[in-house]
Order: sequence, then structure tokens, then C-alpha cells
Amino acid sequence: MPFPFPLAVDLPLYLAPMAGVSESPFRQLCHEHGADVVVTEFLSAEGIRRENEATLHKLSFGPGERPIGVQIFGADPVAMGEAARFVSDVFQPEFIDINFGCPVKKVVRRNGGSGCLRDLDLVESVIRAVASATHLPVTCKIRSGWNEEMRDPVKIALRCQDAGARVIALHPRTRTQMYTGSARWEEIAAVVAAVDIPVLGNGDIKTAEDAIRMHRETNCAGIMIARGSYGQPWIFNQVKDLLAGRPKRPAPSIADRFAIALDHARKVIEYETDPRGAAIEFRKHLGWYARGLYGGADLRKKLYAVTSFGEVEGIFADYLQNAERYAALHVSDDAGSEGVEADAA
Ligand SMILES: Cc1cc2nc3c(=O)[nH]c(=O)nc-3n(C[C@H](O)[C@H](O)[C@H](O)COP(=O)(O)O)c2cc1C
Repeated sequence: MPFPFPLAVDLPLYLAPMAGVSESPFRQLCHEHGADVVVTEFLSAEGIRRENEATLHKLSFGPGERPIGVQIFGADPVAMGEAARFVSDVFQPEFIDINFGCPVKKVVRRNGGSGCLRDLDLVESVIRAVASATHLPVTCKIRSGWNEEMRDPVKIALRCQDAGARVIALHPRTRTQMYTGSARWEEIAAVVAAVDIPVLGNGDIKTAEDAIRMHRETNCAGIMIARGSYGQPWIFNQVKDLLAGRPKRPAPSIADRFAIALDHARKVIEYETDPRGAAIEFRKHLGWYARGLYGGADLRKKLYAVTSFGEVEGIFADYLQNAERYAALHVSDDAGSEGVEADAA
């Protein structure tokens, strides 16, 4: 079955929903660097239906972010339906995604996110309520189960499909695992084989080569990348290169990497209303952009202390000016993955 919204490619690359990360500026940036589809961070159905200001701010997106899905969470089918209706009418994204994967305590305590996975009747009721409240396609993001005993991604996926989900993204870990262990890609392959709708593979893609390997091993219809996009939005274009049979473009030079970080910062400045708070929030991205660079620890220390975006440009300029002090202006291709720092330093 095809994707339920128009796409320019056969195998779409998704920027995964990530609270505090897949915000409007980063979504735009990732689109510019090859992501085909982006998803908002998870937004509470209650917050949406009460038209909570902060929630609505997180819901807003620009034309440069399409195609986009808005992800909602909650365990009350009525509230989820109302939230879906509001999002569809007011914001008109390409699709509504339901979060059945979030492992965070305060969410699962109320059966939200992966909490729903303990009760598949509830999962079905939520999907049906959302699907009947919107004309937009409804998609789901799931984990493999609540815990090892309840681990059954195929059963969960089939129930989602029966209830009306049009695409399923699987992060093949249980809620109990949180982020430990490895994503079991063979479970993605099993879900692909079991359902008729497109399945997105997600979990542990750190490099463009990982994405290709996941596709080969699972035959997933699309690839969803979360942490692998930290500080390296160009990973999407690198995956596209490999999918097209071209050599992967190298990671940008340090100067280009800083230019991308500054472009990201400019997008944040346009989007956020509290410049100081936004600069402090942005420190994590700066840290990711500085990963794997020679002298990166020192650079990160400075970046983690910024309270305004103006300071960032100066710190980057200073680093580049002193670059000849460093062994080489070379960034490892793997700069996005953990542990590169040790090699580069
Ligand atoms: C900081 C952070 C925030 C996340 N927020 C969400 C979220 O709002 N909704 C969601 O469905 N998954 C969320 N996730 C899970 C990711 O979408 C993804 O499933 C998971 O990180 C595994 O993919 P990865 O190995 O590519 O990171 C989040 C993950 C991280 C690291």
C-alpha cells in the first residue's frame, strides 16, 4: 500500500519526533538537508484541546516544513479525537501521528505513549477515535511492547492497522528497555512482512551506512532517524547519495559545519520569542555540532556557556582563526557518533 500523502520519493527519509529537538527550526533545517518528511515532537492531547499557548506554539510550522506530521499523545480517546480535529482544522498537516512509544514516567503513568501498549484494546480505541475525528491520514509510532513478556511488535502493528493506522513506525525496543540494548531490526522485518501498510524502520541509525543496512535487512518502506541527526542534519543527504548508488558526500568541512549551525541558530532566532532562553536551549545543538572536532572539549565548554546567539559566531570565528594550531581541519565522517572525540583529539 502506498504512503497516504504525496511524496516525491519512493523511500522517504523521516526526521523522527523528538521532544526538545524536532522543533520548527530543526525540522526546516533537516528538510533542507534531505529529510523528506518531518514530525513534530509529541504534544499532549489535553494541551491541544485546552489550546495551551506553549503547546500551540510547538504545533506551529511553516511551509518549508511540509510534508509534516503532528504527533499527539494521550490515553483518552475522546480527548485524542478532539485534539486531532483541532489540529486538522487549524494547522492542516499532512498527517496525524499517534505516539505509542514514549517511555517517560510522567506520560506512561497516565497510560500515554508506550503506556497504552499494556492494553491493545485501548490502542485500538484511541486510533479509531482519532481516525474518525479527522479527514487526514492517521499514523502510529510504536515500540515492540511494554516489557519482554509483552513483547510482540507484530501483534501490536496488526492491531494498529486494523484500527485504521495508515503507516507504522517501529522503534524495536520495549518500554522497559528505554534506550538500553540494541534496536532489534529483525522485528522491523517481521512487521513489514505482516502488515499491508508502509512500515518505517527506526532505531540506532548513526551513519548513512546504517540506514542502508536497515533498509536491506528489513525492507522497510521508509527510514526514520532520531539521534543520528544530532549535529549532522546532512546525514539525510548522505543516505540519499547511497540510496542513489552514488558515493556518500563527505561530512562538511568545519567552516561549513559552523555555517550550518549558524543557519540553524538564525532559524531559532526567527522562531523563538525569548532570545536568552532560546540561546540556552540551543547549547545542546552547539555541543552536537562541535562533536568530533580537534580541541572539541574546550570548544564545547565555551559553547555550553553562551547566553546569546551573538556569542556563538565569535566563538566559531575564534576557533577557525586558531585552527592552524590544531593538527588538521579534518572532521571524521563519523563525527556524529559517540566516541569520535577520542580519535580526533
Ligand atoms: C531527546 C529525544 C526525544 C524524543 N521524543 C520523542 C517524541 O516526542 N515522540 C516520539 O515518538 N519519540 C520520541 N523519541 C524517540 C525517537 O523518535 C526514536 O524513536 C528513538 O530515539 C530511537 O531512534 P534513534 O536510535 O534514531 O534515536 C525521542 C528520542 C529522544 C532521544
